[in-house]
Formats: sequence, structure tokens, C-alpha cells
Amino acid sequence: MVSIQDIQAPIQEELKAFDKHFREAMKSKVLLLDIITQNIIKRKGKQIRPLFVLLSAKLCGGITPATYRGAALVELLHTATLVHDDVVDDADERRGFFSISALWKNKAAVLVGDFLLSRGLLMSLEFDDFTLLKIVSHAVKEMSEGELLQMQKARKLNIDEPIYFEIIRQKTASLIAACCACGAASTTQDTQIIEKMRQFGEYVGMAFQIKDDLLDYGTEDIGKPLGIDIKERKMTLPLIHALNQAGRTERHRIVNIIRNHNEDKDKVNEVIRFVKGYNGIGYSQEMMKMYMQKALNELEIFPQSEIKQKLIDLVHYTIERNK
Ligand code: IPE
Ligand code: IPE
Ligand code: MG
Ligand code: MG
Repeated sequence: MVSIQDIQAPIQEELKAFDKHFREAMKSKVLLLDIITQNIIKRKGKQIRPLFVLLSAKLCGGITPATYRGAALVELLHTATLVHDDVVDDADERRGFFSISALWKNKAAVLVGDFLLSRGLLMSLEFDDFTLLKIVSHAVKEMSEGELLQMQKARKLNIDEPIYFEIIRQKTASLIAACCACGAASTTQDTQIIEKMRQFGEYVGMAFQIKDDLLDYGTEDIGKPLGIDIKERKMTLPLIHALNQAGRTERHRIVNIIRNHNEDKDKVNEVIRFVKGYNGIGYSQEMMKMYMQKALNELEIFPQSEIKQKLIDLVHYTIERNK
């Protein structure tokens, strides 16, 4: 498997510059806020989004000062949405430790998320990065819509494949698309290239969220709660596929469990067995690979280079990762 360290290797210095912007933006004179953001910095994630920004910029011309700000901006927004997402999903674990909402309660988590979001936007304004701001603000809007659409569907439990794909395109793929578009836009004005990179990122993002939804069905430690999707009545691709295969009676029995016994461990395990029995996992892996291939096809116009190869490796990492 490709390691993230290998992918980072040719842009070590650039990643350090990004990290400096990221940390600076989080500082605050309010002690409580500073304590919480220190906690966030200590438990950083995989940081694949800044990697997409930096590699995209390098592929399309070269890294500029705006590229670093773009990378910091997307990681700030991503962090803000995770802090909020754990409130929404009632999740007490994140990145192998207690989530912000578990440690400081929902009230603080909501405000910290808002702070991070506003810091990202202000940083871009400070440097007149309007192009980046436009790309990213669009993604922020889509992310909230995606999470709300998901919430709406969790209430009615009437989700089908096209709606699932629309939800993940909005809540996850839009930000990864923005990363790649921002990287490109920080170094070129060629709108065709920027659009190509946006499309590339959107396909990667689709594969990324299908992988995330598959990890939820696993048993390995991923640093966040397992099996939480069914508990939260989130119907993801493995389950949707299984429900489509099952007969009417069985389908009703499973939907009833999700509606009325979603907190019951044994019953939830029954749903997981049902999903596996109808090859929900295998089917989702196929769809994930299909999106990966669509993403890789977008890169075909670029001549072979070390950086292009790293971007390809990063796409592979996205679907092979185990956390
Ligand atoms: C988690 O994203 C949220 C999703 C969109 C599934 P990551 O898996 O990139 O989270 P971190 O930043 O590495 O923790
Ligand atoms: C992605 O969905 C959430 C965001 C876009 C913030 P999930 O709710 O599945 O993400 P995790 O699994 O909590 O990281
Ligand atoms: Mg969540
Ligand atoms: Mg998840």
C-alpha cells in the first residue's frame, strides 16, 4: 500500500509552510478557545485536503503564496465541520481521542466550529484571495446542505442510491473538489484547467466518502466510533444496496430495526449481517473503484511527472487507507 509519508516526501517544506499558516490562524486571546484549539492542533488528522491543494497547484504551474493560504483555509473549514459534525452525529470519539463536544460539550463545540470557519474566511480576505474564497464558500454552502439533506432522509428512511450520491457529493466531495480547484486557481487563470481539477477532486471525494462509509462497517480501530451510521439512522451505500436486493418482508423488518431499535447492539449487528449477506460491502467497493477510475481519467491530459504520480498515489491512498 502507498504510504502517506511517501506522498508527502517531495513537498515537505511546503507542508511546513502550510502548517504555520494553519496554526497562526487558530490563535486566540480567549483562554478557553486557545486551550481547545491547542487540543485540535495536537491531534491532527491525515491532512489529505492540504495535500490535494499543494499537489494540484504544483501540477498546474507551481506553488505560490496563495496556495499555502488555500491549504490552510480548507483544513480550517474541514476542522470546523468535523467539530460540528460530532455534535450533529452525537459522536464522542475523533482522531483516537475524545471529540471536542465530548470534552467541552456541544455549546463550546458549536462556537469553536464557528470560530474556525470565520478565521479561515478572514485569513483569505486579509490577502484579497477572492477567487479562493469564491470556490471554498460554495463548498461550505454545499456541505451544510448535504448534512441537512442527510438528516431529512434519516427521519424518513427513504433514501435511494441517487440521493445517497447527492448527499455525499454535497457533504464531502464538494470540499475535496474545492481543494483541487483552489490549488489550480492559486497558480493559473486557465478556467478549463481549474474546472478539470475541480471535477477530479469531486470524483476523488465521492470515493473518499464511500470508503469512510465502508470503514464504519469494519471492526478495526479507526480513531472514531464504529457502527455509528446505523445508530444515527444514516443509510449509506452498503445498506441501501442490501435493501434493494432484499424482498419486501425482510426490507420492512430491517427498516423497522433502524427506525425503532437503532440503539440495540444485537439488532444493529443483525442489520450488519444482513448488509454483508447481500454483498453490500463488495458492491460499495466496486462503486468506490468506479469513482476512483473516473478521477484518474481526468488527469490524463497532464504529462507524466513525479508530482502527477504523487497525486495518483494519493487517490489510491484515499481508497486503501485504514483510518
Ligand atoms: C473525515 O475526514 C470526514 C469525512 C468527510 C468522512 P478525514 O478522514 O479526512 O478526517 P481527518 O482530518 O483525517 O481526521
Ligand atoms: C462526513 O460524514 C461529515 C462531514 C462532511 C463533516 P461522516 O459523519 O460519516 O464523517 P465522520 O465519519 O464522522 O468523520
Ligand atoms: Mg460523523
Ligand atoms: Mg463516517
